[in-house]
Amino acid sequence: MLDVQKIRDDFPILTREVNGKPLVYFDNAATSQTPQVVIDAIVAYYSSYNANIHRGVHTLSQEATDAYEIARKKIQEHFGAKHAHEIILTSGTTHSINIIATGFTSLLSKGDEIIVSALEHHSNIVPWQMLCERTGAILKVIPMNEDGELVMNVYDQLLSNRTKLVFTNHISNALGTINPIEEIIEKAHRIGAAVLIDGAQACPHVKPDVKALDVDFYVASAHKLCGPTGVGMLYGKEEWLNKLPPYQGGGEMIEQVTFEKTTYAGLPHKFEAGTPNICGGIAFGVALDYMNSIGFENIAAYENELLEYGTQKLLEIEGLKIYGTSKNKTSVISFNLDNIHPYDVGTIVDKLGIAVRTGHHCAQPIMDFYKIPGTVRASFSFYNTKEEIDALVEAVKKAKMMLS
Ligand code: ALA
Repeated sequence: MLDVQKIRDDFPILTREVNGKPLVYFDNAATSQTPQVVIDAIVAYYSSYNANIHRGVHTLSQEATDAYEIARKKIQEHFGAKHAHEIILTSGTTHSINIIATGFTSLLSKGDEIIVSALEHHSNIVPWQMLCERTGAILKVIPMNEDGELVMNVYDQLLSNRTKLVFTNHISNALGTINPIEEIIEKAHRIGAAVLIDGAQACPHVKPDVKALDVDFYVASAHKLCGPTGVGMLYGKEEWLNKLPPYQGGGEMIEQVTFEKTTYAGLPHKFEAGTPNICGGIAFGVALDYMNSIGFENIAAYENELLEYGTQKLLEIEGLKIYGTSKNKTSVISFNLDNIHPYDVGTIVDKLGIAVRTGHHCAQPIMDFYKIPGTVRASFSFYNTKEEIDALVEAVKKAKMMLS
């Protein structure tokens, strides 16, 4: 369905060599590579209309403002939000989560409960722990099983009239598990709790529809889906964003400032203090256009093929164990070779030109669950190939031979 060779031509970095070998880039869950069309958008911005936005009558400022607001509209349409002002442009998923976690400080009381999943990235754990410290709220955890899936009957038991907020990732960055977010949202809403979904790892693979999901907050980063780093989005239902206080004070987020009192701007500006990553926002919109031109159904189908192929080939290596074996997962394979530290495997495969991530993947509770220091993680994108997976398999075999 996908013309992968043609797609690869869109990514200049894929032609480079690393350590004298053709680059095999399997660290897509950490950050995706950038197609030429996004690079061109960045160059065009700085070479022809670099200016600050929302504050100048001059032509360049108007051009930059228009391009930035067009990007917001593209993000709105992509995620299915009702209004463009429900999309807050942020520096990334971590920033987006912190806006909400800080905003809930005045809405929670001692003894209120908030529920997190065991599969979270640190960025969807630590801000909530900080919120609990500020408010006296209690953090409860939906546990996981050996396959790396959430134990949903425990979720049912955790929900109560004390539950005010539930947050989970859509897809686990460390294991690739796709979480049952529809069920999580529906059950939380039944008892009146709000839900935040961390979509950082989902957005490269699926196209979420926040209206259909009826989710309260959905957050993501551009750099996971072929956009630049340092820019991301926060979707919030209008009524929630109106209720929450601003996160940072500064220019742009005000309506009127006197030394006695400041009134705040409406949405989305209330949450966008200071000069934003203008070029990044514009490039985020271009990256979404690019991904949509390939089509998320095509992307998911092809990546599933890569996942199946890679899983089967890697499991042929004796002593290799895969962590995260849910049937419902995306193209992430986290594994270890018995008794060999993941860092050592990662170093050897890098010498052979292959980029994988090693370590705890900012998800230490998952590693603690499996009682391991970390894993080797190969994460595939739509521009990867089965031949590249073969190269990984050969490299892992070599690492095993050298390190056993
Ligand atoms: N969260 C990113 C990862 O999983 C950085 O690698």
